Amino acid sequence: MDVTGIKDMAQKMAEGAAEMRRFLHARPEASWQEVETTRFIASKLEEIGFKDIKIGADGKPVGLVADLKGKKDGPTVALRADIDALGLTEESDLPYKSLFAGAAHACGHDGHITMLLHAAKLLYSIKDELTGSVRFIFQPAEEKGDHSGAHEMIREGVLDGVGAIAGMHLWSHVPSGKVQWRAGPVMASVDGWNVKFLGQGGHGAMPQNAIDPTVAAANFILALQTIVSREVNPLETGVISVGKLVSGDVINIIPERAEMIGNIRTFNPDIRDKMEAGFRRIADGIAATYRCSAEIKYTTLYPPVINDSALAELLRDTAVKVVGENNVEESPMLMTSEDFSFYQKKVPGVLFFLGSGDEAKKTTAPHHSPRFNIDDDVLPTGIALMSSFACAALEKLKNR
Ligand code: NI
Repeated sequence: MDVTGIKDMAQKMAEGAAEMRRFLHARPEASWQEVETTRFIASKLEEIGFKDIKIGADGKPVGLVADLKGKKDGPTVALRADIDALGLTEESDLPYKSLFAGAAHACGHDGHITMLLHAAKLLYSIKDELTGSVRFIFQPAEEKGDHSGAHEMIREGVLDGVGAIAGMHLWSHVPSGKVQWRAGPVMASVDGWNVKFLGQGGHGAMPQNAIDPTVAAANFILALQTIVSREVNPLETGVISVGKLVSGDVINIIPERAEMIGNIRTFNPDIRDKMEAGFRRIADGIAATYRCSAEIKYTTLYPPVINDSALAELLRDTAVKVVGENNVEESPMLMTSEDFSFYQKKVPGVLFFLGSGDEAKKTTAPHHSPRFNIDDDVLPTGIALMSSFACAALEKLKNR
């Protein structure tokens, strides 16, 4: 089946896809709680004809994987969708808005599920034309940070035998229907940190009898930024942000402690190590300077998303066939993160973006905002992209 045929099939799925996406949008489940979502996906895969659906990750009944075997043996290409929602309350008048307070599909993962399920249906119907297998990975907990669903799915063996993997993310700040691709680094690593400066509490009138951790914290916040400005090569990049600062709560008391949390992001693994080392050194150094001690907790979260060059180019060529040259553009590098990067540490992979922003349809709200929504009219494009890419990647791997 050529791309034109796949596009036609995907377009015929438009109505059903929109309906499914809205059904899922109303029923969001946060990371590691995607039990009903998993059940829904499994039932749809069974309807299509899939057997041997493997459910679960890290001992929980969330996430699933299913293989589609082509007529002839050959390589395996994996397609991945993340399935979790966010722990926030949706603010909208949509007829299909979230039924649950404190949970919302505010990142478009409802669309990701829908597109991958329809790609599974499409590819199933042409399986006799395929040489090799397509593995469909529906991954929980992309948003979890310190407990990544991708990491756990890999431990379940979802990459065993896989020659290439692709993931697609809807992007509300990119116009509907445009595809963004990039070779090499595309999204940053992210690490989380927590520092407590411990001093000695006392009366606000008598600092000489206390050790003030707030002064240490204030200096730390400023000194922290010199890691990026003075320690990282200006031609490389990184960012450090403080997310929270808590210290005392009474006007005339010097508190015992000041606590901060934040994150560090970069693209380059060497810079990542360097930033962590600088972070620890400055925290300890500032604490010593102001007679405090520092308790540091540093958690490495997601590696950078680094796209395999050959797969990225294959994706671009496929996208040009699906949406036309004028709708394919190079993505900028982004300081946000994605746990798709864990897969890419094991096998060559490509993560790309499909625009879903349309002012008239009110789908340009930022990801993770309570008014986020996607343009359902792009779903057939996403279905065609994923399906066509799987076919192209199978061909490419077969000829290697
Ligand atoms: Ni997302």
